[in-house]
Amino acid sequence: MKVEPFWDSISKELLSIKNKNRFRETKTYKGIDFCSNDYLGLASNSTLWKLAESFDYFNRIGSTASRLVRGNSEELERFESSFADFIGAEASLVVNTGYVANAGLIDAIGNPQTIIFSDRLNHASILDGIRISGAIKKYFNHLDLDHLEVLLQKAEENEKEKDKRKIVVTETVFSMDGDIPDLKRLLRLKKHYGFVLVLDEAHSFGLFGKNGRGLVYDQLSKEEIEQIEYRVYTLGKSLGLFGGIIATSKLGRDHLVNVMRPFIFSTSLPPLIPHLAFYALDLLSKMDLERQTTLELASIFKKRMNEMGYKTTDSVSQIIPVLMDSEADALATAEILQAKGFDIRAIRPPTVETARLRISFNAKITSIQVEELLEIFKTIKENH
Ligand SMILES: Cc1ncc(COP(=O)(O)O)c(C=O)c1O
Repeated sequence: MKVEPFWDSISKELLSIKNKNRFRETKTYKGIDFCSNDYLGLASNSTLWKLAESFDYFNRIGSTASRLVRGNSEELERFESSFADFIGAEASLVVNTGYVANAGLIDAIGNPQTIIFSDRLNHASILDGIRISGAIKKYFNHLDLDHLEVLLQKAEENEKEKDKRKIVVTETVFSMDGDIPDLKRLLRLKKHYGFVLVLDEAHSFGLFGKNGRGLVYDQLSKEEIEQIEYRVYTLGKSLGLFGGIIATSKLGRDHLVNVMRPFIFSTSLPPLIPHLAFYALDLLSKMDLERQTTLELASIFKKRMNEMGYKTTDSVSQIIPVLMDSEADALATAEILQAKGFDIRAIRPPTVETARLRISFNAKITSIQVEELLEIFKTIKENH
């Protein structure tokens, strides 16, 4: 049999994506931001802007190497220790993105002798980390800790599995659904079954918990938080920058520095980023009003959308997904909203199971803009 010419097979693959209305294109941003993860508006904060302008680069903009060579900087170390203090961990490790934080961490602690229990809807970076690690995978239904317990119990009763290291990983605010797990119950399960716990606080950091410290601070006691082995954060969302962070024990950090491949084998972040992150963290901690209004507006929006007959998820956060009947519907509705000046994007399979508009709220959105948006949704419904 002759091998199909490479570009012919790529064209066919793309055609099949197009036929399902799942073709994606990169588009520059335009319109009022109802889709980014810049939840506190720090990406365009003027204090950070001025700090960036006056930053002393010591003759280098790029970091020039990985952190184990010449790419480490005082800025990185200073930010890591202030971040660890802020979220109440012994240590933290900055890596190049949140994606790398999850994938690299899970690969570092998982292996074919390990069982990883993952919420089915965990972010791609978690799922990819599990794949790379070669660990035995067990997926529990979204937020369903009864199901998790059944899987844990089965593993306990299985001769081949009972003595293997077990890891449970979940997001705390789900990126595409905006809903949250019962962390108290998860900690009770941890106590009983003795698994290693990885929590991804990417979307809760900045909005939930005292001073924006993350959802664990809303649901858990200090003692319970101390029992969590790893918490993952990103600089790219509420902090308005770029990069990833893993908070853990000192031992955990030393281990990652020695074995985490994307940490060891990649050029580190330019020093400007942790320099700005240090100040962004301080700004974020003081934005209680912004946190409150962002979450309030999101909750009002969800309620009004439900009253109009739109389906949403059980979100309790700044992320309100509006579920659509089909990919085509999601695309067409996003186009109408974009034409009216609202930057809202359609999210489709395979990223999510059900096509949706992922509407995310941030501190710059006003109630007048929300009213305008609701008005457009009302007209769309009436013309449907
Ligand atoms: C839950 C979650 N974790 C991790 C990441 C990756 O973070 P980053 O964008 O910094 O790579 C994302 C990004 O969307 C996310 O939603």
